Amino acid sequence: MTAEIPVIAIDGPSASGKGTVAALVATRLGWHYLDSGSLYRIVALAAVRSGIDLQAGNELAELAQRLPARFCDGRVLLDGDDVTDAIRSEASSAGASRIAAFPAVRGALLERQRAYRVAPGLVAEGRDMGSVVFPQAGLKVYLTASVESRAQRRYKQLIEKGLPVTLHDLLQDLRERDARDAGRAVAPLQQCADALLLDTTAMTIDQAVDRIVSWATERFAI
Ligand code: C5P
Repeated sequence: MTAEIPVIAIDGPSASGKGTVAALVATRLGWHYLDSGSLYRIVALAAVRSGIDLQAGNELAELAQRLPARFCDGRVLLDGDDVTDAIRSEASSAGASRIAAFPAVRGALLERQRAYRVAPGLVAEGRDMGSVVFPQAGLKVYLTASVESRAQRRYKQLIEKGLPVTLHDLLQDLRERDARDAGRAVAPLQQCADALLLDTTAMTIDQAVDRIVSWATERFAI
């Protein structure tokens, strides 16, 4: 029974580190991992590549429904093309947050996300894992950090990759994305009433992972 397979739902704002933390929690527990944001990113990239307007909700939903994407050995393939790096660009990030505002796009991706619930368990991260996709999740975590520290972390990552970014632009971009994700009518980013708050502003990645693993151990008696 799928309903008996445990789920940890981790939601939070952009660049909060939840992707890294969720993947490590999944590895520690030996569970599956769903990076739901990557699905929105792939839809945005696929739309741009096929000339679909990012305002055309119905066409975007159709694309999301038949999305020819696969995850293979840590790589993301779109129509067989490796787009792992392309979907992480700032353009794909902004595009993802735009197309994610369309209810039809979200609906088209719903079953695809739920299909990741496979034994022995799933760690799912995004914006609406606890509120919409897995409302029955046995453990819900709202993982956040101050916008300044999120911008600082993102800045460090991009500078290390040799990308020409400024802290000022990143801060502005994150603030805009936060407002869009939290302010949209459908599945807005929010801390569910039954989610545990984890503010990682003053925490290392390992400390955040340890905290969630210990909550999971207690909650699921594993
Ligand atoms: O998590 P990530 O930054 O990769 O997500 C990219 C964008 O996709 C987010 O800014 C958000 O707008 C959207 N998203 C969403 N619901 C999710 C995951 C991501 O709306 N569950």
